Amino acid sequence: MSQASAPGKIILFGEHAVVYGQPALAVPVTQVRANVEIGASARPGIWIEAPDVHLRSSLEALDPSHPIATTIRNTCSALEADQPSGIEIQIRSSIPVASGLGSGAAVSVAIIRALAGTLGGALTDEQVSAIAYETEKLHHGTPSGIDNSVVTYARPVYFARGEDLEIFHAGWPFTIVIGDTGISASTRESVGDVRKLWEGDRSHYETLFAAIGSIVRTARQLIEAGTPRGLGPLMDENHALLQEMTVSSTELDRLVGAARSAGAWGAKMSGGGRGGNMIALVGEDDPEPIADALRDAGAANTIITRVS
Ligand code: PMV
Repeated sequence: MSQASAPGKIILFGEHAVVYGQPALAVPVTQVRANVEIGASARPGIWIEAPDVHLRSSLEALDPSHPIATTIRNTCSALEADQPSGIEIQIRSSIPVASGLGSGAAVSVAIIRALAGTLGGALTDEQVSAIAYETEKLHHGTPSGIDNSVVTYARPVYFARGEDLEIFHAGWPFTIVIGDTGISASTRESVGDVRKLWEGDRSHYETLFAAIGSIVRTARQLIEAGTPRGLGPLMDENHALLQEMTVSSTELDRLVGAARSAGAWGAKMSGGGRGGNMIALVGEDDPEPIADALRDAGAANTIITRVS
């Protein structure tokens, strides 16, 4: 009946500080995707099959606060449509779960668009992003909204809470190698821990957040000016600030160090941290040696992506 897909994402700069109103930069990662196909089912009701997370259930049998149930309900109500019956929603995703690559947001966006297609309704990107944001709250507690935004628009975004989303363009393409620690980590927990630290010493943490905000603004200028080499030291600085906020980990630090030793221009963790993925900025040369060095240092997987 209908089909939709959405890419993964990485945060280039600004994670965690973005929750406190600072800007952040994120880009889509099209090498990994969530795909949703909706077809007819002989059985009444809505049936959901998501083999990657071993889910096979009717909507009725799911907890009403389950992210997929919430997404379906909110999509129908945004379209002012009754819940359809006799359909099967198949969800497949190559985006690793709980690793900072936007898996939850991509699955939501693909479900919303496929369901809108099945119901013959039209939703603006803004509406799609808003519905996905409601589901992100279940995954993350207090999400900034950056994941649903970058995944919905599938373009590089400059995001600040409460401000209009800005799409940015790279003046010169650059290459990022993504290294996966293979450790899934809860963004809800790392965001919660930063909140406790902030509550304990607001002025110190707000100074760190502001320093990250200023890195983000400089990074955007360099990207738009087509001089990405300067992003390397900014990545290193951003990583050090995230370490100070306790959201890095031994494994992330090891991969960041390995990328730098192998000649990356800079490297940092990306996303919620404590596990998940890190990113390294690679020069014009072949990115493969950096990817090899990451795998030698224990990366479970690497992805080479180009920002243009
Ligand atoms: O979904 P992740 O792991 O990429 O993390 C999102 C980034 C945070 O800034 C840590 C949280 C948020 O909601 O922006």
